[in-house]
Amino acid sequence: MKLTLRVWRQKGPEDKGRMVTYEVDDLSPDMSFLEMLDVLNERLALKGEEPIAFDHDCREGICGMCSLVINGTPHGPERATTTCQLHLRKFKDGEVVDIEPWRARPFPVIKDLVVDRSAFDKIIEAGGYISAPTGSAPDAHAVPVPKPDADRAFEAAECIGCGACVAACPNGSAMLFTAAKVTHLGLLPQGQPERDSRVVDMVATHDDLGFGGCTNTGECTVACPKGIPLDTIARLNHDYLKAGGKR
Ligand code: SF4
Ligand code: FES
Repeated sequence: MKLTLRVWRQKGPEDKGRMVTYEVDDLSPDMSFLEMLDVLNERLALKGEEPIAFDHDCREGICGMCSLVINGTPHGPERATTTCQLHLRKFKDGEVVDIEPWRARPFPVIKDLVVDRSAFDKIIEAGGYISAPTGSAPDAHAVPVPKPDADRAFEAAECIGCGACVAACPNGSAMLFTAAKVTHLGLLPQGQPERDSRVVDMVATHDDLGFGGCTNTGECTVACPKGIPLDTIARLNHDYLKAGGKR
């Protein structure tokens, strides 16, 4: 396969940045999208050019690092997939492919396609934990959890903190991420002591960091590689009002 890549290149946080075109040939449709970038980077290095900086770690859809907007869509054209699990067979031979970083004010570009997502860490620090001493692992049935709650908590816990929801949202809101974390802990017995303060503090931190408000456009859930449903935000709103939060 041959692809024409138009890639966002930005030397550093202060650089204006620009799209740069690269023709990449001799690609296999079975390559992952990141392997294709590896190939391009090797060729750039051989020519003495600066390789393209991009984030990645696990390359198996669990770490949430591979944050790329591909042809205008976070994580690219395939639904419910991370960029690292996207393969070139999803593209046509000869296609022009635009590759950009997440674009949201609280995620400033560090270099090329790498953004600073530490704003998510700050939201977690505000309440994404429990205070119960964990000690050694208890028997699985020692703390009974109703099955529907366990299933819903597990579903929310699948959030990998990738930030695609923010990149897709016209308001730059991180409400789906925040709601996933609030729901995951708020449905379990161990999460009850901080349930009220958690939701109020995490939403306040979300807003302070400059993420936008949710207007239920639903773009977040479409872009989410883990299929976190939109009604997770409704659960957050319910908990937030019950806890007496005001925005
Ligand atoms: S809610 Fe989905 S899109 Fe948002 S950070 Fe979590 S996994 Fe990524
Ligand atoms: S590199 Fe870990 S989810 Fe893509």
